Amino acid sequence: MAGTDPAIAEASGRVLAAVARTRAGLELPPGDVERIVADFVAGRVPDHQMSAWLATVACAGLSDAGTQALTRAYVDSGDRLDLRGIGRTVLDKHSTGGVGDTVSLVVVPVVAACGVAVAKMSGRGLGHAGGTIDKLESVPGLRLDLDAAATVAVLREAGMVITGQSAALTPADGATYALRDVTGTVESVPLIAASIIAKKVAVGADGLLLDVKTGAGALIPDRTEATRLATTMVRLAGTFGLRCTAALTDMSQPLGRAVGNALEVKEALDVLRGQEVPGLTELARVLSRLMLRIADPGLSDDAADARVADVLSSGAAYDRFRRWAAAQGADTRTLDRPDLLPTAPHRVPVHATAAGWVTDVHPRAVGEAALRVGAGRLAQGAALDPAAGVVLHHRVGDRVDAGDLVAEVHHGDRDPDGAFALVQSAVVVGPEPPAPRPVVLDVLDPIPEAERK
Ligand code: URA
Ligand code: CA
Repeated sequence: MAGTDPAIAEASGRVLAAVARTRAGLELPPGDVERIVADFVAGRVPDHQMSAWLATVACAGLSDAGTQALTRAYVDSGDRLDLRGIGRTVLDKHSTGGVGDTVSLVVVPVVAACGVAVAKMSGRGLGHAGGTIDKLESVPGLRLDLDAAATVAVLREAGMVITGQSAALTPADGATYALRDVTGTVESVPLIAASIIAKKVAVGADGLLLDVKTGAGALIPDRTEATRLATTMVRLAGTFGLRCTAALTDMSQPLGRAVGNALEVKEALDVLRGQEVPGLTELARVLSRLMLRIADPGLSDDAADARVADVLSSGAAYDRFRRWAAAQGADTRTLDRPDLLPTAPHRVPVHATAAGWVTDVHPRAVGEAALRVGAGRLAQGAALDPAAGVVLHHRVGDRVDAGDLVAEVHHGDRDPDGAFALVQSAVVVGPEPPAPRPVVLDVLDPIPEAERK
């Protein structure tokens, strides 16, 4: 077995030593993390030993040096995109994920319309949280599997690009994530930070805006831990030369009204055409401002806000989305006439059962409801229903009367009863108005106070 091959014996010994040192809170010898990851990818470290080390990190933590080494190992496992030919600042944006988190579909074209190039590699839905690629696949014709050359070509042509992440970038993260997913080790600050920042470093943008969600629907619900994740990622990105700002934002209720793939594309198009969607529009404006300030730290908040307001009211942000979608093959008639996007044949209304104030809209229950009707996957690789999902007509703090329409389940006959029960239980109405819930809780900005306007 392992002992018969010296390379395998050496690799195993290194992992076991790493488990012992990590458990004791000690630094690993320089180069060991990189070797362990390379050995794992090459099949010299078996899944159970890699899982043991990942579980030890999830429990005992990992030093900054260890987290940097892990990030470097992920980056070095694959290709890196070369965006230097674009000839100007390129930004990236990442959200740690949430329910109805439509914000990338708004922020990317807004920032691009303001003249700052944005290259975004997105993922599919994970658990109760949706993914940008799943959402955009509901647009007929839109291609989301661009290779490196096409990614750069679209970025040049449209000033923005959104595509699925190529398997050639950070394959070690992919292999490690698959293990974490089935061993209960996803929720770990250093493991999440290394996984996310490695993918961003491989894409090669100059700057990064991180939207770190906190609250019941977030990957890390606890605010203190989410703040730790945000500060860890900002610091880690900085060590790789990536200018990074993180916003800590509310995911204690779904974002905006729509939860579901085509439903969220329509919601984003509404915002891009200047409509105010409570929660979503505000968050999109703040994140857009932060991105403009990463590209130009000398820009004042007021000047950034004015540019964002201008591209939303003038239609420039909508035009940018359209131009980008056309460059990636979309049938743009479906953007101008969203009734041509996938639309569910049935809607089930959910009514308030009492008068009062909406005190909670539980995001995990709404996300699960959307999943049941086909907006997400209950099993790996399952086919989605692009039209399915949930539309919320009220959010926390709204006053409602008994019988008011609070939500609708859009479906094509996949488990509408299960989804209805979940949405009904998710929307809680109480006799007292709840405390206000700000959309943006904190901004972690590495630009020193003295250099800000
Ligand atoms: N998203 C990622 O890309 N990696 C993680 O580890 C968690 C969320
Ligand atoms: Ca939404």
